[in-house]
Amino acid sequence: MRKPIMAGNWKMHKTIPEASALAAALKSAVGDETAVEVVLCPSFTALAAVADAVRGSNISVGAQDMHWEEQGAFTGEVSPLMLDGLCQYVIFGHSERREYFGETDETVNKKAKSALAHGLIPIICCGENLAQNEAGETEAFVSGQIRGALAGLSAAQVAGLVIAYEPIWAIGTGKTAEPAAVNSIIGLSIRGVIADMFGEETAQSVRVLYGGSVKPGNVDSFMVQPEIDGGLVGGASLNAESFAALVNSAAK
Ligand code: 13P
Repeated sequence: MRKPIMAGNWKMHKTIPEASALAAALKSAVGDETAVEVVLCPSFTALAAVADAVRGSNISVGAQDMHWEEQGAFTGEVSPLMLDGLCQYVIFGHSERREYFGETDETVNKKAKSALAHGLIPIICCGENLAQNEAGETEAFVSGQIRGALAGLSAAQVAGLVIAYEPIWAIGTGKTAEPAAVNSIIGLSIRGVIADMFGEETAQSVRVLYGGSVKPGNVDSFMVQPEIDGGLVGGASLNAESFAALVNSAAK
């Protein structure tokens, strides 16, 4: 059985003191949770404070990005060596990084290989925009993203990965995708493609999250879907009560 995950992507929110306080509140609320993996993804500047705040609990920490090189002349970037000891997960290919910062399937692939080589677990994001959705291109587009992101990895590496399906039109809009449609896209374009590339057993062990306006009021409708193993949550992860409510729902 795949263990559910509830991951909070705090995006460009929370100063160090704010991040620390939120992490401490979540440690009190859900720090002993064993049925769900809880992952907090603050900005780079707050990673150390959040790692300190959750120490001794079952809560994991993730970065929101990473460069694939260990060091070099890459002003503003953060390397896998710099994340050592601060986090267990790293998000790659978020639609906001693709749209505003030039992330591509090729850079996601390089980053995923580097993260795995450094003992970090990639959370790889994919998902179509509204025009692609309305044109019926979702399946082909998401399949292409998965093929690109996972090219050249081994089955053993892919088995431990986390994929997040986040339809762009559902992010931060209050609109969610239809849970049954999400289930079907994950089955066809994520697990189906992984099965084709790496075999069925690998496809069944990858954990796949849904992201896009996940809230306490709608999370159950996603968690009951067999292909959905949890959520990647933006807005509702910025508040301890709502994120704890999501974790508790996923634990049921
Ligand atoms: P919202 O939950 O705010 O829609 O954000 C989703 C997301 O982008 C998580 O990575």
